[in-house]
Amino acid sequence: MDVNYQPEHSYHKQKVFNHPQRFIEGWYWAIHSRSLKKGKVKSLELLGREIIIYRSPEGQLICCDAYCPHMGAHLGKGIVEGGSIRCSSHGWKFDAEGICVEVPCLGEPLPLKIKTWPVEEKYGLIWVWTGKISQQSLPYIPELELQECASILGASFVKNCHPNVVMINAIDAHRFNTINPWSREILFDKQELNHNAIQFHHTIQGSEGFWWLNWIRWFYKHNINYNICYWYGSIGIITIGPEFLHLYIMFALRLLPGKKSAIQPIFITKKRSGLIGNFCNPFVLILTKIVSIFFMKGNRRIVRQIPFDFQTPTRADLSIIQFIQHINKQKSLLWRTWQEPIPPATRPNNRDIFTND
Ligand code: FES
Repeated sequence: MDVNYQPEHSYHKQKVFNHPQRFIEGWYWAIHSRSLKKGKVKSLELLGREIIIYRSPEGQLICCDAYCPHMGAHLGKGIVEGGSIRCSSHGWKFDAEGICVEVPCLGEPLPLKIKTWPVEEKYGLIWVWTGKISQQSLPYIPELELQECASILGASFVKNCHPNVVMINAIDAHRFNTINPWSREILFDKQELNHNAIQFHHTIQGSEGFWWLNWIRWFYKHNINYNICYWYGSIGIITIGPEFLHLYIMFALRLLPGKKSAIQPIFITKKRSGLIGNFCNPFVLILTKIVSIFFMKGNRRIVRQIPFDFQTPTRADLSIIQFIQHINKQKSLLWRTWQEPIPPATRPNNRDIFTND
């Protein structure tokens, strides 16, 4: 094995991968849909930025910055009026575009605007796009892109590990080959789906080091598909199963301070209709949830606290190198400001700082 193997683009030129204060522009899960009723507002900190999300009486979702441009009152204490939010301090009102439409004591609005963010709902979650206009659809399972899905949520939890590094475990062929050296060498086929999505595929022919696959092999001798699709380097969708039944587990992560991750598991299946669907969908979702426990157990010890210092890449680490390269090609934003980092040449006095680091 060539221990001096170097990728075409060195991962040492770190851009966004495993960075404590940068993330990729994209969709990030914010809150559970059921936690936000019509006519209510929720406040939260997402990737360092304080925002609010409110739902109009008609069900429309609006997301904007949390502080009122008058005197800085928190709009999380505001009142939802139709598709607008009214500040509880002096009553200024902002519409769904963030435009000031009413200042009660002046009798006319001021030419002001609060920053709004694209927001959507899927898989029982409310998602926020961290740029001006969403350039991508919400993360989807490639083979179910145009199909209606049913889903349930697992319990969210926090890991002491950067989201990018948590993601790597699912394609760590080097580790799989070490766990089970007597099986054939595991290799992943890579396919970039778009600027923000990449998938890795492997066909499982034995047990590949997973004791639970030995059980399945008692009654199923054919190949099992294993596919993982990454979105924004922080969302991993595992597809596993025989041709006749693919199970889908999405792990939606977002960066927390101190290189930690908030992790939301989502179990997804193709929505089957009718009586069969009523029985089949919940059954498949529960089965998916059980399978996900094996994945989480296997990774628990490894991702407990791994700072990731990739000093000696080998050919067996090719998938990880490809993943890092894919991440570093995407548009990075800074923690809290959600602005792009200033290139070194244009910084004042050429100091080695970020605007928000
Ligand atoms: S602080 Fe919001 S209206 Fe005055």
